[in-house]
Amino acid sequence: MVDKIVLGVESTAHTFGVSIIKGFSVLSNSRRLFTTNKGGMIPVKVAEHHIDVCDDVLKESLDVAGVKLKDIDLIAFSSSPGIGHTLRIGAVFARILASKLDKPLVGVNHCIAHLEIGRILSGLQDPILLYASGANTQIIAYEAGKYRVFGETLDIGIGNFIDSFARELGLGFPGGPKVEELAKKGKKLVDLPYSVKGMDVSLGGILTNLKKKIDSKLFSKEDLCYSVQEIVFAMLVEVTERAVAHTGKTSVVLGGGVACNSRLQEMTRLMCEERNIKFFCPEKQFLVDNAAMIAITGLLIFESDGCISIDASFIDPYKRTDEIIINYR
Ligand code: ATP
Ligand code: FE2
Repeated sequence: MVDKIVLGVESTAHTFGVSIIKGFSVLSNSRRLFTTNKGGMIPVKVAEHHIDVCDDVLKESLDVAGVKLKDIDLIAFSSSPGIGHTLRIGAVFARILASKLDKPLVGVNHCIAHLEIGRILSGLQDPILLYASGANTQIIAYEAGKYRVFGETLDIGIGNFIDSFARELGLGFPGGPKVEELAKKGKKLVDLPYSVKGMDVSLGGILTNLKKKIDSKLFSKEDLCYSVQEIVFAMLVEVTERAVAHTGKTSVVLGGGVACNSRLQEMTRLMCEERNIKFFCPEKQFLVDNAAMIAITGLLIFESDGCISIDASFIDPYKRTDEIIINYR
């Protein structure tokens, strides 16, 4: 297992990535991001982007890794969940490679991959994942043969929430890093709804409240950014802490683009310290969407379940984390 060379392909949304790993060592982790000057992601346009860049990303990844295509032992691709148009490009790309090279193929769930890379890089056996990205906000942990979602957003993802708020402030996209910078200069905690519902969080109402506050011009941008981070991250950390208390797990890892935020990292770390449990946050290239996590999870799956046939290598844009049976744990 340690010596297998795996090529991972990521294409669930805006990122097309190719990574080469040897065992669990990451040799390369190349990616290209679809960006726009104005407006959001149109699925067909993102798919065209991925088609345009896929050969370059593959070449770069092989060059950086110093690996030839013929050396690859296994191909892993993100098969769920995500945007159908873009998932399909990654799947076709992976199928072509697998059939051309006559190598085994496995499909990987993207959300589980965010957890597995934290688990493998940290050496922690059984962490809880706080997965905070643009589209997803979930607290995930392993329980009885499956990864369970212990809590999640009831409406929009945390990153999309921060980006919408930043757009209202005229900060541009992506808003997360800009909000983080302004928040450092904020001093006053502005009153915002604290919306935790059982194990879930709701962000839509807070956004509406913020829009009114921005229109009123009574609050500084800095104070609003500071307050958003303090309140919304506290909601996420509260639910994560409750999942820790319920499951009795002894570690937490972070994943997703919003986990790049140093205040979210600090708050999660403090909660873990107070509970005397371990905390791990991967470096940025492994927090955002990346193909290394697909390769690592693909290797775990292959070692326990073997490969899938090309005919059965479906994509499933809506497959939920807790629908997947885990045999490697
Ligand atoms: P997924 O498919 O897993 O949902 P994604 O498409 O949302 O992924 P990511 O790269 O994981 O993509 O996350 C992007 C989000 O991360 C954006 O909403 C961006 O504003 C946010 N983000 C990036 N850096 C920061 C930061 N420092 N603070 C807060 N948010 C951040
Ligand atoms: Fe992701």
